[in-house]
Amino acid sequence: MSPTASLPMAPPSALRAGDRPRWRLLVAACVAGACVHSMQRGFLSLHTQKQSGQPLAQGAKWAPDKARGLPPMRLGPGGGADPVNNVSPEMAAAGRKYAQRYEEIFMMGQKVWNSIKKIDGAEAPRKVYFVGTNGNQGQEIAEAVMDSLAYVPAPDGTQFLRRKPGVQYPTIKYGLSNSDRRVSETCAMLKLPSPVDLYLEDPEKYREIETRVLKEFSEQDFEGYPAAFVVGESALSTPENVEIIKQGLVVWLDVDTEWSWGKTQWRPKQGGGLFMPTDKHNRPPVWCIANGWDGDIDDTEGKREYEKIMVGYSKGYEESAELRMKVDIPGLSENPYWCAERLMKVMAERFGVTDDASSVEEEFLEKDLEKFLEGARLSKYLKPAMDWCTEQGAASIEELVESVEELSDALALKPLEKKRLEKAAASPLKGVSDADRRRSRSPRRRSIFAGLCPRRSSGRGFEDEASALSKAEILHLRQKHFCAAQSVSYANTDPLLLLRGEGSRLFDEKSNSYLDTRNNVCHVGHAHPRVAAAVSKQVAALNTNTRYLHPNLCLLAKRLTETFPSGSGLEVCFFVNSGSEANDLAVRLAFARTRSREIVVVNHGYHGHTQQVIDISPYKFDHKGGEGLKENIHKVPCPCTFRGPHRGQDAGEKYASYVEAACQAAPRGQVAAFFVESGMSVGGVILPPPGYMEACYRAVRAAGGVCVADEVQVGFGRFGKHFWAFEQQGVVPDIVTMGKPFGNGMPLAAVVTSRKVAEAFNNGLEYFNTFGGNPVCCAAGLAVLDILRDERLQENAADVGCYLIRLLKDLATRRTLIGDVRGQGLFLGIEFVRDRTTLEPATPETSE
Ligand SMILES: Cc1ncc(COP(=O)(O)O)c(C=O)c1O
Repeated sequence: MSPTASLPMAPPSALRAGDRPRWRLLVAACVAGACVHSMQRGFLSLHTQKQSGQPLAQGAKWAPDKARGLPPMRLGPGGGADPVNNVSPEMAAAGRKYAQRYEEIFMMGQKVWNSIKKIDGAEAPRKVYFVGTNGNQGQEIAEAVMDSLAYVPAPDGTQFLRRKPGVQYPTIKYGLSNSDRRVSETCAMLKLPSPVDLYLEDPEKYREIETRVLKEFSEQDFEGYPAAFVVGESALSTPENVEIIKQGLVVWLDVDTEWSWGKTQWRPKQGGGLFMPTDKHNRPPVWCIANGWDGDIDDTEGKREYEKIMVGYSKGYEESAELRMKVDIPGLSENPYWCAERLMKVMAERFGVTDDASSVEEEFLEKDLEKFLEGARLSKYLKPAMDWCTEQGAASIEELVESVEELSDALALKPLEKKRLEKAAASPLKGVSDADRRRSRSPRRRSIFAGLCPRRSSGRGFEDEASALSKAEILHLRQKHFCAAQSVSYANTDPLLLLRGEGSRLFDEKSNSYLDTRNNVCHVGHAHPRVAAAVSKQVAALNTNTRYLHPNLCLLAKRLTETFPSGSGLEVCFFVNSGSEANDLAVRLAFARTRSREIVVVNHGYHGHTQQVIDISPYKFDHKGGEGLKENIHKVPCPCTFRGPHRGQDAGEKYASYVEAACQAAPRGQVAAFFVESGMSVGGVILPPPGYMEACYRAVRAAGGVCVADEVQVGFGRFGKHFWAFEQQGVVPDIVTMGKPFGNGMPLAAVVTSRKVAEAFNNGLEYFNTFGGNPVCCAAGLAVLDILRDERLQENAADVGCYLIRLLKDLATRRTLIGDVRGQGLFLGIEFVRDRTTLEPATPETSE
């Protein structure tokens, strides 16, 4: 088997999050230029002041000159309805939720910045440069990121969105500017034409000014406050600019060309026609070129030109950026703060910010202390008691009760209060569960818990017990309670303990992150919030079997069958729990339809783990422990054009001739079914050559058999070009089986077939499957189909797949160990060989 890679289809949140930094020492010189932002209070729109052109070192004040936005929301009696803003309890609750979410983003930002500040010298990225094309909301996102990095929480804990007018809060300071605006200002100052005219008349001068403003920003001293610069979309075509921005952290806010073009098409309502920028209104020069600024107002031509330019620019962004984030996807494009939230997470990871043990410890100590003081009716002393614990370094409630005398003095308790405290200390852990106690004592839970962050344990039940287990203990339990046949990956080096996933990344107990190139289940990304929400909503309502009517089941069948080519007749669904079950059922359907028991299978194929499907899986029956080929199974060669005997144009036909021969060799020349994976996975990412399936299907149908397409690995758009991989071969199967990605991790698989095949199965032996197609798994399946459509993940698989193949093929020109790069979309394989002529597999090189 060749080492293979198949990626989750969710766009990577940050392609280069794991790269080494490449920042250099920044020159600390004070040059006028960037805007300084100050945030004191506001509602949703966070910045309250922009002081263009004032360097901090010249004593700029940060006090806001005017507050913007809506007044802060106030809570009504009991925290329910909000009579001031006249909103319902639901609205008030939503407001509270939002305030909390914003606060969490800001707090994370503050931690990230504190972490960055601790990095010394050249490695410290003191400035952030945002690059990308028009319409990526660079300015808004930069502002949201700065609001977060520069955040200073209120000493009394008031959340930012709930700050009250008339109360003094710490000011929030940062630098923020953008090259378009700065170029425009500089042109005005130097009495030059507007940037657009200047670009068209004297592009060199324009570039010179662009470099000048970038340089000014890079040299400006922000006195330890964060600063960001939004770089014009064409600025990276100047190598000097690239060098300047690489001194900071370069973030690429990526949007599709189509999206970007759409944003350039904005026109003012009045006047109609082509949008004319005023002198002050600085559109990027590219926009002008693309719109035929020379007078040619031809959108199609402009768009084509624009796309060409964008492709070139994207290369530049990619080469310069340390982090890349797609920002034109639902869930991010609506609110720059959600983009900041994502970036904060990636930056936290990048700069080693973990919810470190002390803060976790503190959180639990505070909880325990709260219960303890409550028991002593001394809740009002929670804050000073907590402060005292911090001061004294007390890490657990046990340590605290040993020093009850000192605590009492520190809190200046009255005699009766002191008595109550002593009494509570005599039975200190009343109300604190065993798990809580173990947890607060156990140092090893820190690392595991860090891996679970930011999700918090409920503080009760099995979650605590689980989070208290060390990696060694988990491994021990695994060995004790499982069979060695259930193998663990990387057992020869260090098995992975994975506790969290997000998008295309996985996180271990120490919050190390891994780009998941192996997963073929979490198709729309790990822990996708829409899948999580759909599942939890349904699980909280009802989960039962398919003997009752339920909308989820029927809607999923409708939506799923709509994905097949029209006129295919594939309209009857059986929902099951796994790919193996699906193939097992497909065998039964074929037997019922044909009354034959002969099955043709392809060498190296894998169809699952039940006895019946092991019998049709050469990958199992031909290998160690397997029982070999059964009498009714006919194995044909794998249609591999890299290693196999047939490699030319007629390879499809030649490989299909083995299927024809197998059909003829079957008893009475009749077969029940032909099973083939539409893209062979464990066989080594093998795509059948053109014409193969069509010729095979012809032979099988002539022998009375049905054709089964196993799409368990390759279905649901993974191929990019097509939703179902069999479509690539221009055939329509009689039965399609699917599984893995369908529920994004929830056990959901299916068999879809024609009415004719289904009717033959309806022979009185009823089909019932307890869990198959339950409403919860169907909710997951529906969410997956929605996400595939809304996030255009099939298209993403096509784009990213093409890109990866191009890069890998390029790499192959320099690395002789790479024998072949093949696949389609995000179903990709690299075959490593020791010798490109003999094709000797590079087993030792790939086994370490
Ligand atoms: C092509 C193919 N078919 C079927 C299966 C079996 O699916 P499951 O593991 O869900 O039973 C697999 C699993 O790897 C597979 O790759």
